[in-house]
Amino acid sequence: MHPNPEASQRLAKISTHLRPPTLQMEHRSFLGQQNCRAKGGAPGFKVAILGAAGGIGQPLSMLMKMNPLVSLLHLYDVVNSPGVTADVSHMDTGAVVRGFLGQPQLENALTGMDLVIIPAGVPRKPGMTRDDLFKINAGIVTTLCEGVAKCCPNAIVNLISNPVNTTVPIAAEVFKKAGTYDPKRLLGVTTLDVVRANTFVAEVLGIDPREVNVPVVGGHAGITILPLLSQVKPSFSFTSEEISRLTDRIQNGGTEVVEAKAGAGSATLSMAFAAAKFADACMRGLSGDAGVIECAFVASEVTELPFFASKVRLGRSGLEEVCALGPLSEYERTGLEKAKKELAASIHKGVSFIRNS
Ligand SMILES: NC(=O)c1ccc[n+]([C@@H]2O[C@H](COP(=O)([O-])OP(=O)(O)OC[C@H]3O[C@@H](n4cnc5c(N)ncnc54)[C@H](O)[C@@H]3O)[C@@H](O)[C@H]2O)c1
Repeated sequence: MHPNPEASQRLAKISTHLRPPTLQMEHRSFLGQQNCRAKGGAPGFKVAILGAAGGIGQPLSMLMKMNPLVSLLHLYDVVNSPGVTADVSHMDTGAVVRGFLGQPQLENALTGMDLVIIPAGVPRKPGMTRDDLFKINAGIVTTLCEGVAKCCPNAIVNLISNPVNTTVPIAAEVFKKAGTYDPKRLLGVTTLDVVRANTFVAEVLGIDPREVNVPVVGGHAGITILPLLSQVKPSFSFTSEEISRLTDRIQNGGTEVVEAKAGAGSATLSMAFAAAKFADACMRGLSGDAGVIECAFVASEVTELPFFASKVRLGRSGLEEVCALGPLSEYERTGLEKAKKELAASIHKGVSFIRNS
C-alpha cells in the first residue's frame, strides 16, 4: 500500500509537537523542524531583534511574538538568547521563533530578514564616562549594521540603541561604506518620546491617552526632544506654564524612570511597547496600508541638518515621506534653535566616528 501523503504529513506534525521544543537555537539539529514550521506558517514578515536578551529586548521579543504580521522572529544576543528563545517560543501565537547566540551566528540571524530591530548596547556602569559608553555602543551598532549590509541589505532597520542622535548617522555611514545605504530604510526609534508626550498630555486634559497625538520632533536626547504642543490633537490651548512643565517632563521622561528604578536600569517596558508600536507601523506600511504616520529620526531636508526627527509616512519601501514641521509657536521656534545646535554636534560625532576609524 502506498503511504498517504496527507497522513504522513499529519504524523510528522504530531511528532514535531511530541519532541520537547527546548532546543531552538540555530546550531542545534532541531533547526530542520523549525524551518518546516516556518514554511507552513502564516505569511508575514521576517523580523530580527538584535539585543533580544536585554531589558528592552525581552519584552520586545514577547510583543513581536504577539504581532500577527510577524511570521518568523529571530532573537539574537551575545548572551542568554537560548533562554529567551525557549521562553517566548512557548507562546501559542503564529510567529515561529529561532534563537541565535554570539557573533558567529549573527549572519544566520540576519539572512532573509525584512525588518531588523536593534536595542543592543551596554548600560552605563560606575566609573564609565559618557564617552566610554558612546564608544562601546557605537562599536556594537557598527558591527551589527555591517551584518545587516552583508546579509539583508534591503531590510528596514529600526535603531533603538542610544545615543540615537549619533547611532543613526553611524549606521548611515556604515551602509554608505558598504554601498547599501538607502535613507528610506534607516529609522531611529523616537516613539517613546511620542508615547510619553501623549500620556502626559492626556493626564492634563483628563482624557484617554489613545485619543491624544503629540508630534515630537528634533532628536532623542534632552533638549533635542521637541514636543509640538501647539499641534496637539485634539487641539487644546495650554497655558505657558503648562507648556513649559509638559515640555520639561517629556524631555526628561527617561530620567524620571532611571531615578525611580534607583540603579536598576532605564526605561525598558515602555520602550519595548514603543518599539513594538513603531515596528507594527513599519510592517503595516510595508503591507501597503495607507496613511501610516509616525515620528522617527531619519535622513531629512526639513531643516539644514542631515538627520532630524519628525512625522514620517511609512509605506511599501519604508520611509516614503518626511512631513514638514508645520506652523510652530514662538516657544517651539526657540526650542528648535537650541535643539539644532546640540543635534548638529551629535550628528557630526557619529559621522566622524566612522570616517576617522
Ligand atoms: N531609543 C530609545 O527611546 C531608547 C530608550 C531606552 C533605552 N534605549 C537604549 O537601548 C539600549 C538597550 O537598553 P537596555 O535597557 O535593553 O540595555 P540592556 O543592557 O538591558 O540590554 C542590552 C542587550 O544588548 C546585548 N548586547 C550587547 N552587545 C551586543 C552585541 N554586540 N550584539 C548583540 N547584542 C548585544 C546585551 O547582551 C544585552 O542583552 C541602550 O543603548 C539604551 O540606552 C533607547
